[in-house]
Amino acid sequence: MSNRPLNVGLVGGGKGAFIVHPHQRAIHFDGTRRVVAGALFPDPKIALEEAAHWPYPIKGYGSYDEMIAANASLPADQKLDYILIVTPNFVHYDPAMKAMKAGIAVFCEKPLCLNLKEADDLVKTARKLNIPFGVAHTYLGHWISRLSRYIVRSGLLGEVRWVDSYYLQGWLATKLEATGQTQAVWRVDPKRAGGSGCGGDIGTHALMQLRYVTGLEVVQLSAQLETFVEGRMLDDHFTIYCKLSNGGKALVRASQICIGHKNDLGIEIAGTKGTLRWVQEEPEAVTILLPGQPDRVYWRGAVSPGDGFLPKDVPADLMAEPTIPAGHPEAFHDAFARLHRCFEADVRKWKEGKAFKCDGAKYANVEDGWMGIAFIETCVKSSQKQGAWTAMPKAA
Ligand SMILES: NC(=O)c1ccc[n+]([C@@H]2O[C@H](COP(=O)([O-])OP(=O)(O)OC[C@H]3O[C@@H](n4cnc5c(N)ncnc54)[C@H](O)[C@@H]3O)[C@@H](O)[C@H]2O)c1
Repeated sequence: MSNRPLNVGLVGGGKGAFIVHPHQRAIHFDGTRRVVAGALFPDPKIALEEAAHWPYPIKGYGSYDEMIAANASLPADQKLDYILIVTPNFVHYDPAMKAMKAGIAVFCEKPLCLNLKEADDLVKTARKLNIPFGVAHTYLGHWISRLSRYIVRSGLLGEVRWVDSYYLQGWLATKLEATGQTQAVWRVDPKRAGGSGCGGDIGTHALMQLRYVTGLEVVQLSAQLETFVEGRMLDDHFTIYCKLSNGGKALVRASQICIGHKNDLGIEIAGTKGTLRWVQEEPEAVTILLPGQPDRVYWRGAVSPGDGFLPKDVPADLMAEPTIPAGHPEAFHDAFARLHRCFEADVRKWKEGKAFKCDGAKYANVEDGWMGIAFIETCVKSSQKQGAWTAMPKAA
């Protein structure tokens, strides 16, 4: 494949949409990917108008069906290389399936879809067609998440005993949906959001952070899904006590009613030799607590392998991943860019007919998305039985 930029088509993103914008900036970050097309809104007329007013020229389509159909029969080097799905959760499954069947790779927002039946289909199709499929768990894209994964998975903290993985927000502490606020309205509607509101929206990020960094799975859980705002149909507070695959325990928790909390995602991992602590609102540093020693703070771009804690052989690809020197802060957009960059590498291999990994090490894949949906469904079941311990289904 030549070094032409990869061409990306957007599904969703018109009229005051939120997450499309960090994504589209991140797509353009390296000059090796660009947005060239979009089906931006459910109403075809508005979709075309929105595309005509996009900040740079793109080809507008009245619907994602049209966009995918127009690309399906094109030769591989002319069709869209991947689509980015940034619609509400109930419009993930259909465009993802159709794109894969048209030979277009998929980068999809989380949660993957609405239920386990849809998730099963997506996993089976991606495997059968051997097509790259990424899921936008943003926080894995911080370099410190990569370093944390290395530290924990290589045993530097010993055996993991306890994890507290959380995502706290306060924006739904009042009945914002009653004002018609775009992002709130569909997030509290089970038909459009899925079986859990807070859990699906941000609890899945907390779960993914735990799984990504530790490599452990939740095997059983006891869930409390609570709704503090009167008249709301879905949970706005989500507290899950978990048994992990190594015998350790974890709390995966999320809330949308914690006034003052913005995007307070964090993780604390206590092992038999030490503890790791990271918060995404200050994403450039991770703290390691060791017995009888001063706390160690590692900054992105400023770690020195062989320092008495980190071994000399920290993987070269991890050390090479930062893009700018330490102290010039990276944040949310850089995390998205790192995910798209790594996804791009797999899409290019796939287009060249080479083996590609898509194994969850660099970005969440369709199986990770499946696990998020399985977690939500198991939490809903447990909570309906007053928090009864409930087994997670086996991996897809
Ligand atoms: N990874 C993250 O950090 C993160 C953050 C926010 C949202 N999200 C996820 O991103 C998705 C979108 O969330 P948002 O907050 O941007 O929502 P939003 O409501 O701001 O935007 C959704 C967009 O999809 C469009 N849309 C709806 N149906 C469509 C259809 N049939 N065809 C074309 N466009 C259609 C809407 O018109 C709107 O432009 C959700 O799945 C959400 O969970 C992820």
